[in-house]
Amino acid sequence: MTSRAKLSAHECVPRDARALLIGRVWVPAEQGPSVVAVRGDDVVDLTPSYPTVSQLLNVAAPDELRAAIKVAPVVGRLGDIVANSREGERDTSRPWLLAPCDLQAVKASGVTFVASLLERVIEERARGNPALADGARREIQAIIGPDLRGVRPGSPEAARIKDVLVARGMWSQYLEVGIGPDAELFAKCPPMAAVGLGARVGIHPASVWSNPEPELVLVINHAGVIVGVTLGNDVNLRDVEGRSALLLGRAKDNNASCAVGPFVRVLDDAFTLDSARRLSFETLVEGLDGFRVKHTTHVAEISRDLADLAAQAISRYHQYPDGMILFIGTMFAPVDDRVHVSLYTDPRIFADEMERIFHRGWVFVGHESEIPGPGDFVTRTLGTQPVLMVRGSEGGVSVFLNRCAHRGTMVCPASHGNARTFACPYHGWTYGLGGELLGVPYPGGYASFDKSAHGLPRVPRLSSYRGFVFASLCPRGPSLGEHLGAATRLIDRSCDLSPEGAIELSAGWVKHQCAANWKMLPENDSDGYHLGFVHLALFKTIRTQYRRVVGDEKTIRAVVRDWGHGHIEIDWSPGYEGPFEWLGGASGSGVDDYVAALERRDGAEAARRRIVEGPAHALIFPNLFLGETNVAIVQPVSVEECVHWHTPIFLKGAPQFNSRLLRMSEAGMGPASFLMPDDLIVARRNQAGLQASLAEWIELSRGLNREYVDAEGRGVSHVTDETTNRALWRHYRQVMVEA
Ligand code: FES
Ligand SMILES: [Fe+2]
Repeated sequence: MTSRAKLSAHECVPRDARALLIGRVWVPAEQGPSVVAVRGDDVVDLTPSYPTVSQLLNVAAPDELRAAIKVAPVVGRLGDIVANSREGERDTSRPWLLAPCDLQAVKASGVTFVASLLERVIEERARGNPALADGARREIQAIIGPDLRGVRPGSPEAARIKDVLVARGMWSQYLEVGIGPDAELFAKCPPMAAVGLGARVGIHPASVWSNPEPELVLVINHAGVIVGVTLGNDVNLRDVEGRSALLLGRAKDNNASCAVGPFVRVLDDAFTLDSARRLSFETLVEGLDGFRVKHTTHVAEISRDLADLAAQAISRYHQYPDGMILFIGTMFAPVDDRVHVSLYTDPRIFADEMERIFHRGWVFVGHESEIPGPGDFVTRTLGTQPVLMVRGSEGGVSVFLNRCAHRGTMVCPASHGNARTFACPYHGWTYGLGGELLGVPYPGGYASFDKSAHGLPRVPRLSSYRGFVFASLCPRGPSLGEHLGAATRLIDRSCDLSPEGAIELSAGWVKHQCAANWKMLPENDSDGYHLGFVHLALFKTIRTQYRRVVGDEKTIRAVVRDWGHGHIEIDWSPGYEGPFEWLGGASGSGVDDYVAALERRDGAEAARRRIVEGPAHALIFPNLFLGETNVAIVQPVSVEECVHWHTPIFLKGAPQFNSRLLRMSEAGMGPASFLMPDDLIVARRNQAGLQASLAEWIELSRGLNREYVDAEGRGVSHVTDETTNRALWRHYRQVMVEA
């Protein structure tokens, strides 16, 4: 419920008139708490008979309690007390509800639901990294499927399942408590520290990934008997717990991190432990910004019986004279199915992205084939910072900040060319191909001058893969190999189409300005849902290799794939039926020569696979798009503006395809073409629509119902699904929250 709605007894208290409800109320007139019960529309004071809830539950049978309630004095109207319980809005001269427990130990159990077990194993494997967590979540689901449901913890069958998981290297201490004989039980908070209805729960400010855990709470007396139940929120800092299970205490117990209430429903003939076992309850999380998550918990899905949990918690060797309240665990695990509009519209977030994604991370600069000879150069940006990529006289590739060491002027304004030196246009400082400062006009103005300290600054890290040059402005961080991960295979797929194993970008670039946030282009590049709508004109006009994807949803075979680290793919190839569909068909002697060259290198089978599958259609996070027969770059400019660059790929050693590839690029990507202009206009309208900021969330749930993990651990789904968008955003979140 939102903070705007007033709390009402109707919403907060069982409607069953027989319900035996006890709790605690702060009574300002007494300057202290009272033990209370509900009697009709009133709250009555039991404190004279039972000074604490703990003592009441230790000694009072339901009948005795009913008798005491009948004669107890009234504290106030139930509706008034409930309505006065919201922290920050209450009238402190009138009574309000407290947590309905006092001296009892406050404990919680975890890993009691199968889904919860999965969550813990995942958190441990992901070590606090939300993106990794999602990949692992799906990987584990792929391995064990639904079979673990219904397994009785501690049974021989559970032990066998554990062996299988251990053999797969997926052992976790969570498994021990999840399916082993002993439940996980931990101290949630000290006695008297729980908060009640309407209180603000506490989330540690150091946590960026936390969630509520809505749970049934058992109320157990000193003898280990479950005498009542209530509801609670076992607030959890998931990133903290994910770093190490030994941080559980820190993840679970900070100020106000335990909320219970509003009352304890005492078990009696009308509401037994079996009634509790059958309970279902709903959790609704609503942000003031429109965020909304709804979840239903079915207690019946718990893996351990409630009585078993209570028996493990209080026993001969674990005695609690004041009793205990025990959270039974949760299976609430929110999924990522939306993003907030500010990620496309807030200039502060854009500035943060430039720093965290485009400066600290690996960013595509250009291809070595663009600067084949000494002195060849191109100018690019890393985020919004200008850089210069140059082939040196010895043949090596360097990337410098395109900024004069004197007063900071951009040294090289040209997009590309060949130079022996670079002279700053402002005062003529001149630099060599290695960035060294060669000359300073009128040197008499400096008493002593160390030229070697005034070269063009090199980017701190430079690396390349199959001719694709990447740079990072941060001296530390994952290597390029770690950043690319398995996605190198996407680059391979395009390069291996060349008989010489390399693509060439030598046709020059076309740039389109786009009035949209830069992320819309990579998102659109990996969106297979829009083709039949945005590009309808194309399908109506000419025969294309994409035609099948605008047909019946069930017959489409193309897929989207999540390669991790924000690298995402549309794979059209499952829908291709023969060679060169990606090229619009090809034949003739030049083609035969080409196929023969591939066969000599790779063998007939691999060569055929390559010419059927064609080049990759994939985003290499954050700015390189392998657009099948094109390569594209997205260049962020400001929060609502970017530039899209594209050029056709040429296959080294197969020049017979060059003119076809160039024509395809013109027809698909150029300013008067069939694809790109439509995409750019839709991106602009997308950005325009987001100005309607009353609706703050962008829906991204498509395909959650059918995506799966393949044998290599990649998320896969129908080509029209938003698996790729979610993968991009998960990596984005990881990068944006890293310290
Ligand atoms: S700013 Fe470059 S020479 Fe002065
Ligand atoms: Fe498109």
